[in-house]
Parts: sequence; structure tokens; C-alpha cells
Amino acid sequence: MSGPAGRARPSARARRADPARRAGFDVLRAVGERDAYANLVMPAVLRERGLHGRDAALATELAYGTLRGQGSYDAVLAECLDRPIDALDPGVLDVLRMGAHQLLATRIPAHAAVSTSVALAREVLGSGPAGLVNAVLRRVAEHDLTGWLDRLVPEPGTDPDTRLAVATSHPAWVVRAFRDALVAGGRDRDELAALLAADNVPAAVTLVARPGRGELAELLAAGAAPGRWSPYAAVLAGGDPAALPAVAAGRAGVQDEGSQLVALLLATAEVSGTEQRWVDLCAGPGGKAALLAGLAAQRGVELEAVDVSGHRAELVRRALAGAPGRWQVRTGDGRELGPAVADGQHPPVDRVLLDAPCTGLGALRRRPEARWRRSPSDVAALGRLQRGLLTSALQAVRPGGVVGYATCSPHLGETRLVIEDVTAGRDDVEPVDVGQVLDRLLGAGAPAGAVTGGYLQLWPDRHGTDAMFLALLRRR
Ligand SMILES: C[S@@+](CC[C@H](N)C(=O)[O-])C[C@H]1O[C@@H](n2cnc3c(N)ncnc32)[C@H](O)[C@@H]1O
Repeated sequence: MSGPAGRARPSARARRADPARRAGFDVLRAVGERDAYANLVMPAVLRERGLHGRDAALATELAYGTLRGQGSYDAVLAECLDRPIDALDPGVLDVLRMGAHQLLATRIPAHAAVSTSVALAREVLGSGPAGLVNAVLRRVAEHDLTGWLDRLVPEPGTDPDTRLAVATSHPAWVVRAFRDALVAGGRDRDELAALLAADNVPAAVTLVARPGRGELAELLAAGAAPGRWSPYAAVLAGGDPAALPAVAAGRAGVQDEGSQLVALLLATAEVSGTEQRWVDLCAGPGGKAALLAGLAAQRGVELEAVDVSGHRAELVRRALAGAPGRWQVRTGDGRELGPAVADGQHPPVDRVLLDAPCTGLGALRRRPEARWRRSPSDVAALGRLQRGLLTSALQAVRPGGVVGYATCSPHLGETRLVIEDVTAGRDDVEPVDVGQVLDRLLGAGAPAGAVTGGYLQLWPDRHGTDAMFLALLRRR
């Protein structure tokens, strides 16, 4: 191909940033400058620049890999700089981080990683910063990541969590929270490294064939492989899921198998008497509601989906458009449902799914920047909301009915502690052993080691799903 770049003299070409690195850098800047989500910005940038195939794959790998590895790379860069890392211009820091990612975590030859980073810096920042980028990345290139780790956090005498935090690029508070959750979930703390490493491997795209609308066979015929746990799941090897006719028509959707299991387990738990109404109390954007709607329709039950955000309620309407049976979506605060049922203004409910707003720490594989956006104070603030919503759900469900409390976070402050606080001293609520419900649903095909103390806790490294938590509670 002979475009303008092909005709350029080598020196001029070396000065120009290549389009994949420029795209990766622009995504990093959008994330840093305006709190954008990388997985929403990246497709738009690729489309706008006409990047496909290898260029698109490289741009995506560079941006997502840099965001994931930022914790490790910043620790290395701090050693190579003659000033505090915070004193750097944010654009310079992003070029350095992306350069460090190429040097420490990809097979890109060191000379190419440095020269392309310098060209990028010159194009977007000017020649002064380009000189700094050149000097710093040459220092980074002196060791591989393990070599740097040995220098930064020598093993003997170092708190193992600190080393893991730097080595796997997680905030230290997240490492500690995962360790506590692992131990509470009956796993060995030595497994922490595997769990953290799993967060740095992008998740496969899993689809759900929505009952009453789509068939698993259609997804398998399109090249997807059957899922491991959910009878409705299919895993795509690659490509754009939106391009599949079943997804475009709403017969199937993109949904992690952990999320599918949560909806299926709530629907499988025993409930006494006749059922008429299920509520999805925090339904946006509607993944679980779409699965529940199909299951509810099979039993002649109505599904009511609620979300406090009008925009997210609209997304639920879109997810449910074309769903069988009776369903309705409304915008509202889930904390008002319990009092409304108690006042007789809303009929009692047979099953409530409370897929609570949470830190999302169990889904870090999918959101490259998410681990840096959260802080321990989020756990406290969300905890108050989670407790309020669970109190309301338990008030809304009729005696003999079941509440499923789920989070896509394994943080104990969002899982067990919420359940224990809200149910303490209440004799009208009994725990349902999720292990027994899982056996009824999947029998020998159930994920091993997923239930401790009656709670479901899935793990990315062990089960290949997001780290979903589920507690089932029955009103006596
Ligand atoms: C974890 S997401 C739910 C995901 C959804 N179940 C799915 O599978 O697609 C939590 C949702 O709770 C909603 N939410 C937050 N506070 C709420 C409240 N007080 N009442 C109802 N919904 C709320 C958020 O807008 C968000 O859409």
C-alpha cells in the first residue's frame, strides 16, 4: 500500500505517531480527563479513525492493558523519574504508561516500544516531552517486570499483599478485600495471586439465549461454544456480538454466566403457594430482567422491573422489548417498594431480585479502569443503600416468598455483612442454602467450591465468571 506514510522519508515517518498508538493514547486521555469508560470510547475512536483488524486489536490492547497495568507501571516509572510522578503532565504520564506497558507486558521489541512512544510524544506533546519520554523509557527497558518487582518490593520482609498489589496492578485495599473474601469463601489465601491475575485477562464474551425468545442451538450454529454452567449460555471465540442476528433481534444478549446463574437460582428457589408477581428491584440495564422475564412467562407470572434512573429504566424497556408474557418497567426508588406493600398500595411479591448497586469489584476483567475509580469510602456509601434496599425487598416479599440479594462484588462489606446486619434479630427471615438450590438447578454440573455458609460466591479464576455473590432469604 502506498499512502502518504509509505512515501515519507524514514526520518519523517519516525516522527509520526502510528494510528494504533495514537488511538490508544486518545482513549487513555478520555478516561483520565473526563472519566470516560474505555470500553465505550474505544469502539467510537476505532470507527472514527477507520481502524480495523490488527491496528484495532493493537490500539485496544495498548489502551486496556495500560489501564489495567497502571499500578505496576506507575511504581516502575516512579523509580525512573527525577521528579514525583504526580508532577508530570497527565498526557506525558499516559505516553509513559503506554510505553511501559509495551516494554514490560508485550512482545513488542524494546527499540520499537521506545521509538514509537517518542514519536507519539512528539506529535501530541512536543519535542521537550519527547526527550523526557525517550530518557525514561530507556531506563524502564533496563529490566523486565519481575526484575523491577524484585527491586521495588523485595520479597523477604515485605507484606505479601503489597507485593501482590504492585505485581498484579491492584490497589492495596482491593487486594486486602479480596483476601478477606477468599478466606470467608472457604478458599486458601494462597489462591489470592491466581484471583488477581485473572482480573488482568480480558473476559470472553458470553451470550444468553433468552428463554421464550431464542434457542441456544442458534448461537452454537453461529460458532459459539456451550457455556460451562448455565444451560442458556454460549461463549463466543471472538468478533462483535452485536453482529449476530440473534443478538441484534434480542433473542440473545451478552451476559456473564455468573449473572445468568443468579437469575436462574432465584427462579429455582422454593416458594410456597401460587405465584403471581416477581420484581427486579434494581433492573437497569436489564440483563437479568430479560432472562427473568422469559422464566416468569413460562410460569404465567408477571415481572415488574424497577430502576431509580430513568435512563436505565429505558434500557430495561429495550432489553425486554419482544419478551414473552406480562412485564412492566417503571422508574422508582426500590426503597419505596417495601413501605408501599406494607401500606397496601402495591401487591405483595413472590420473588424479588435485588441485584444491588455495588463497587463492581467482581467484574474488573471487563472494565479496565474500574479498579482505579473506586475507593473504600464507596463501600460505606453503597452499604447504606444496599441495606435500605434489602430492608425494602424483605418487606415487599410475602411470607413463603424469596429475596435474592446479589452483587458483582465479593467485598464482604457489600455481601455477608449486609445480609447479617439486615437480618440480625429478625425471626421472620430465614436463609435459604444456595448450595441446595444449585444442586436442584444443575445437579452434578454445578460449579464446585462456589457455595460457603449457604452463600454463592463465584470467582473469575476458578469458575471463569465474574465474582458474583448471591444470598437467598425466605420470609417466614
Ligand atoms: C448492578 S446494577 C443492576 C444490573 C441489572 N440487574 C442487570 O442485570 O442488568 C444496579 C442498578 O441499581 C440501580 N439503582 C441504584 N439505586 C437504586 C434505588 N435506590 N432503587 C432502584 N434502583 C437503584 C442503578 O441505577 C443500577 O441500574
